[in-house]
Amino acid sequence: MIGRNDACWCGSGQKWKKCHFPLQEPSQKRAPVPDLKQEYLRKYQILIKSDKDIEKMRAACRLASDILTATCQKAQAGVTTQELNDYAHRLHQEAGAIPAPLHYGNPPFPKSICTSLNEVICHGIPDKTPLREGDIVNIDVTSILHGYYGDCSQMVKIGQVSPERELVVDVAYECLMRSIAILKPGIPILAIGDVIEDYATSKGCSVVNQFVGHGVGIDFHEGPQIPHYRNQNKILLIPGMTFTIEPMINAGVREAVIDPRDRWTARTRDNKASAQWEHTILITENGHEILTTWKRP
Ligand code: MF3
Ligand code: CO
Ligand code: CO
Repeated sequence: MIGRNDACWCGSGQKWKKCHFPLQEPSQKRAPVPDLKQEYLRKYQILIKSDKDIEKMRAACRLASDILTATCQKAQAGVTTQELNDYAHRLHQEAGAIPAPLHYGNPPFPKSICTSLNEVICHGIPDKTPLREGDIVNIDVTSILHGYYGDCSQMVKIGQVSPERELVVDVAYECLMRSIAILKPGIPILAIGDVIEDYATSKGCSVVNQFVGHGVGIDFHEGPQIPHYRNQNKILLIPGMTFTIEPMINAGVREAVIDPRDRWTARTRDNKASAQWEHTILITENGHEILTTWKRP
């Protein structure tokens, strides 16, 4: 116990009786070290994944990739997008998984995968349309396995395709892989859009800004949004973040028009070609891991 004639606890050099008497030294409760995980949830609604979460996501992402690869192999002239849908649906069932698109959103998405042909940017609905020589098609598979989501997509070229279609397919792939290459803790989200927009515009293409990548894992679409275009999002990547990058690259104008009849199909305003590839990514202590295991053929 401090005496009246002792030096005050506050460090003033005066006697306690002349200083803070009769107040005792406040108990040494430090402000808690800010927990990044909690801060990211509170401030940004970003769910940082635990090691256990990540193991489950690896399994969901591997399954989604395997189903995607198998479905892409079936995509040939004469095959309808409905047949691709039914095949992917059956593969989900056989694996004890759920295709996330089915009944998702409002209005409920009516099919199990997205198939986006030529001028369709994203969210194309499988139907009786047969694939034809010269088409490009994006196949997007999102699988739920034991409650965890894996989300990925690839482009398939049906036979010989026009130079314009060839270009968007290649530029979109480069945009995805170049933006993944920079990912590590401390990088701001805006850096992803910089890489993609710089590359796409250098090739004479445009970047869609009406759809974005997204946090993923426990839910289909978690925070944060991941814009593929130039933006101001200064949130820094930290280990345990999981999100998609899925740049949509157009040969002509960037604007998308959503079909008012189905309220899903998004087409380019000028009906020129569009392409997209998608990976689910984990930020690690030292860099990143691509959780979706598909490889471009
Ligand atoms: N898989 C798409 C994505 O990459 C979302 C499709 S939503 C759906 O985010 F309802 F069309 F399936
Ligand atoms: Co996605
Ligand atoms: Co997707």
